[in-house]
Amino acid sequence: MLKSLKESKSWRPFSWLYRKSGLKSVVYSRSLKKLVRTISIEDFLRLSNPSLVLKRKSAPYNLSMPFQIESGPMPFEDQQAMLKILSFLDPNYVFEFGTNWGVTTAIFAQNTSPSCKIYTLDICREMFDEETIKKDRELNMVLSKENVGWAYKQLQEASKVKQIFQDSLKLNWKEADYPDFFDIIFVDACHKYNYVKSDTENSIKKLKTGGILLWHDYYPDVSAWTDVFRYINDFAKTYQPVFHLKRTHIAAWIKA
Ligand SMILES: C[S@@+](CC[C@H](N)C(=O)[O-])C[C@H]1O[C@@H](n2cnc3c(N)ncnc32)[C@H](O)[C@@H]1O
Repeated sequence: MLKSLKESKSWRPFSWLYRKSGLKSVVYSRSLKKLVRTISIEDFLRLSNPSLVLKRKSAPYNLSMPFQIESGPMPFEDQQAMLKILSFLDPNYVFEFGTNWGVTTAIFAQNTSPSCKIYTLDICREMFDEETIKKDRELNMVLSKENVGWAYKQLQEASKVKQIFQDSLKLNWKEADYPDFFDIIFVDACHKYNYVKSDTENSIKKLKTGGILLWHDYYPDVSAWTDVFRYINDFAKTYQPVFHLKRTHIAAWIKA
């Protein structure tokens, strides 16, 4: 019925309302079969280590930016979730797709042991011409080279971080001095389907057994970044179980 309504001439005035009211995302999400189960962070961490005694660490992270950031860093509740995950794990090696201002990188740097090494990858504006940047919504978020990683560079722990400037589609693990395996990999770069797929496939190869793969911008109601939702659900058809962490936009998988 909705299909024939959309095809009729009288649909046009309602189209805006349909999108803006959130009804479109509700209808869309219901049309997709969800294979990703929502669980609490505590339950997810218990799965990653059944004997885990959950200790709670308060959030020490408070880094104010000298300017207004309209988009880029993940929302506060997701940053809190990341802190909780890190406070229960003690990773030696972390890899991040998508540095941006370096807020999540700073969280990794401040909440891991001094010997932990963090690799973070991004592109920068200098790698593109202005025309290309204007045409591609994903590239709106791309920062100039000097701003990429601004937040973590303010920290003493910055020495734990290795910055990589590269299109994630071109990532080749053999090209640089990467460790054999990572304990945590965080996928938060380009949101297009083929990029999330490529970043995930690269991650699986380099994640240690028992290691954790995290994706950002997983919206279970499909209200944003629909390609991320679609890819992770496709991934879950083969790699069960995949979880959505309650009250966050983070999806997670443990390599068995
Ligand atoms: C959502 S931001 C990352 C936010 C960051 N993790 C945080 O919460 O602080 C996404 C980043 O992905 C980068 N990006 C987009 N396309 C990319 C690509 N093809 N390869 C690598 N990075 C890319 C953008 O430049 C942007 O900085």
